[in-house]
Amino acid sequence: MDKFVIEGPTPLIGTIPISGSKNAALPLMAAALLGNTPTRLSLIPRLQDIYTFNNVIAETGTDVHFNGVENSLIIDPAGLNNTYAPYDLVRKMRASFYMLGALIGHSGEAKVSLPGGCAWGPRPVDLHLQGFEKMGIQIKHDQGYVYASMSGEFVDGGEFTLEPSSVGATINLILGAVKRARHFVIKNAAKEPDVVLLCRMLQKMGADIEGIGTGTLTIRKVDNLRGIEFSNDPDRIETGTYMIAAALHPRSELTLTGCKPDDLGNFPQTFNKLGVDIEIGDSTIFIRSAEKINPVSIKTKTYPGFPTDLQAQWATLMTQANGISTVTDTVYFDRFSYVPELNRLGANLRVDKNKVTIHGKTPLKGAAVMSTDLRASVSLVMAGLVAEGTSEILRVYHLDRGYEKLEDKLNRVGASIKRESQ
Ligand code: UD1
Repeated sequence: MDKFVIEGPTPLIGTIPISGSKNAALPLMAAALLGNTPTRLSLIPRLQDIYTFNNVIAETGTDVHFNGVENSLIIDPAGLNNTYAPYDLVRKMRASFYMLGALIGHSGEAKVSLPGGCAWGPRPVDLHLQGFEKMGIQIKHDQGYVYASMSGEFVDGGEFTLEPSSVGATINLILGAVKRARHFVIKNAAKEPDVVLLCRMLQKMGADIEGIGTGTLTIRKVDNLRGIEFSNDPDRIETGTYMIAAALHPRSELTLTGCKPDDLGNFPQTFNKLGVDIEIGDSTIFIRSAEKINPVSIKTKTYPGFPTDLQAQWATLMTQANGISTVTDTVYFDRFSYVPELNRLGANLRVDKNKVTIHGKTPLKGAAVMSTDLRASVSLVMAGLVAEGTSEILRVYHLDRGYEKLEDKLNRVGASIKRESQ
């Protein structure tokens, strides 16, 4: 197991290229299983979660070829002869549960293990399963597995309202419906850019989906989808993470390239309230930090609201703001494992139910801290960048799941991060 040893504080000055989105790539990979011919995806990041999903897909007999130099992935489902996604693979990453929709779409049946994933809070899949049942798919559970089947080649479909709106359930139901449901309506569907991108890819493959980008998606089955060439989008969470990192140190000046600012929802407006300089271009974002940053309270919401995947990083930033702020997570209620770790570095955070109150500005001092999940880990790395002295971030394997070349990207702009064995 690796750890990061960080010497701080260091301003970040220079340019960081943004990688392809992890969360958007996974559904595109699942969608490739629905094509009659191979699909080539580009802008696929080199990340552990992508490798894990490649393995899950390969288990079905599908041919998967990842080119790490080009960041491209070719998926050829011609040999798909096994509709089984085993626990050993699925437990490593929750999004592997997309195999349920993809295999229903491809073969009309599936046996998929219930997922594992991040170590925060209850993350149920009840909506995915209820949605499939509403579609007309038969769902059974046995010994940790979900069995999906259907009596004919198609189901009539119907209508299902997601409450709460769920990114994963929306994606799974779309994957299942496009080739199997005569007419299926998803209400309160997720509007996240990852869902929109999946719909655009499926449309290009030949699917019939109406209402893309709105809360009501109407899907009518088509018999065939073709494999295509398709580009993934830049990672909006990575973009937001580096925007926050740029604001942390008063002398930082960062340019982010290869981004898609349109996918950031309301985040730039919230960011503006900090009082730092920000210039947004078509695919670049420039940030010059300020001597003092304002405390800005946030509440996570579904898109275009503040993403839950950026709340831990925001809390770290608020330790350096001049005043009191709060971070409330309304999407996941107990995603605060980073709080005691930030306090070990000298921050002053208090959790009450799903709200953290942060008293800034507190000087941070290097210490050893433990990563517990992907976004918590990156928030600790960011704290290490402004903490005085040496910080050790243990268990960085979480970061390798979701941030492409994190230490290289940060070291190139002035950070001092060494990867060592723990
Ligand atoms: C995805 C993202 C994750 C992000 C989250 C919210 C991927 C791989 N992961 O996760 O990084 O934090 O969206 O933006 O893209 N819920 C239910 N029942 C269900 C499904 C969800 O009650 O069957 C609830 C969840 O507990 C949560 C809310 O719905 O409170 C939203 O979760 P969801 O959008 O499904 O998150 P994921 O798709 O798992």
